[in-house]
Amino acid sequence: MIQFLSVAFRNMKTVGTICPSSPVLSRALAGPVAEARSPRRVLEVGPGTGPVTREILRLLEPGDRFDIVELSPEFCGDLERNVLAPWRRGHQVRGVEVELHNAAIQDVCLEEASYDCVVCGLPFNNFEIGLVESIMARMLDVLRPGGELTYFAYMGAKAVKRTISDGAGRDNVDAIERLERTLQLSHAGTRRVVLANFPPAVVRRLRKP
Ligand SMILES: C[S@@+](CC[C@H](N)C(=O)[O-])C[C@H]1O[C@@H](n2cnc3c(N)ncnc32)[C@H](O)[C@@H]1O
Repeated sequence: MIQFLSVAFRNMKTVGTICPSSPVLSRALAGPVAEARSPRRVLEVGPGTGPVTREILRLLEPGDRFDIVELSPEFCGDLERNVLAPWRRGHQVRGVEVELHNAAIQDVCLEEASYDCVVCGLPFNNFEIGLVESIMARMLDVLRPGGELTYFAYMGAKAVKRTISDGAGRDNVDAIERLERTLQLSHAGTRRVVLANFPPAVVRRLRKP
């Protein structure tokens, strides 16, 4: 937790929270992984200290492949030490491939149209609309047809942003909201409220046509 806070305060724009996701939110984000049949290819983007990563690892079976993309070198070190190394020491890893990429999702080399599930923890409401568009496009590109993307936002985050931002900031929030609405319509989107998190969150699921 101390490690999370220390990285979060120094990188508020890219981390976007002071609290890792709760077990209930982590399970909701990993929902499509639990529902997909093995062999599954799973991508997690922005794991932070790994609450959702742990949930995904728990679900993996022989034949599955799991790629994890995290921008912060400090979070990558933490994930390797506290999540991946203990998991590798466990006995359930045979036949499961896991790779941690210390990179931005926009830059990392991944196979197109190949993932069954993409699970994303990025704080989109902190990003410029151009970056949100390119990251969303990237994550949908790497999903296979029928595959699912899950991501979340804190409830009320857009309202707070609108209140504290100038005109350009408000336009940016509006543009993110329009993009999300368009994607919900074109990708059979669903949304679920998770109250058991600090702050409460909305999980969105998009299915690639
Ligand atoms: C809100 S934190 C998510 C933490 C974690 N998933 C959880 O649920 O507690 C966002 C994470 O995304 C990472 N991140 C931000 N921009 C990124 C990018 N372009 N590519 C990959 N990771 C990114 C940050 O370093 C941070 O670890």
